Amino acid sequence: MQQQRLLKVLVIGDLGVGKTSIIKRYVHQIFSQHYRATIGVDFALKILNWDHKTVVRLQLWDIAGQERYGNMTRVYYREAVGALVVFDMTRASTFQAVLKWKRDLDSKVALGNGRPIPAVLLGNKCDQLSTGLCSKLPKLENFTRDHGFVGWYETSAKDNTNIDAAIMCLVESIMAVE
Ligand code: GTP
Ligand code: MG
Repeated sequence: MQQQRLLKVLVIGDLGVGKTSIIKRYVHQIFSQHYRATIGVDFALKILNWDHKTVVRLQLWDIAGQERYGNMTRVYYREAVGALVVFDMTRASTFQAVLKWKRDLDSKVALGNGRPIPAVLLGNKCDQLSTGLCSKLPKLENFTRDHGFVGWYETSAKDNTNIDAAIMCLVESIMAVE
């Protein structure tokens, strides 16, 4: 018998970090330089043949960056089982906001056993870094562990770098929970 799993996954982070672009790249294999801010929330669905007996329906909730200043996140986060927390590697302020997003998340949604839902940290727009992140790598390793992320990736929606890997890491963590 085949079983289906519906997984609600949140994509959060500050304005313009690339949440919508990451989802468009992952689901539709497209990228646009044009920026149009998301209003409220958008949705996308990706079907994964997880293993020979499991089909995963991945429901991606693309939350507008501007929602950090609103009260709607409690409604959007309900029943989510995982999250991608995104910052823009070229803008430090978006990295500082990561902990605000993580705290917002953990205060409003949790697993049945009370533990935080799995979250993966994405440093997006890595194609724009002239210098490598190598020197900062150990630091982000600690940051990830100290703040309860299950992993972190440098990503580029533009060049299609690590998008699949980051989302696979999250889905694996979610599937390992039960
Ligand atoms: P909000 O909906 O306002 O919260 O923004 P968002 O996080 O959805 O950002 P969006 O995906 O709309 O991207 C913002 C801008 O960054 C757009 O102009 C994108 O083309 C650009 N962008 C997104 N990802 C990348 C990337 O990996 N590399 C580069 N160079 N630009 C990117
Ligand atoms: Mg958007």
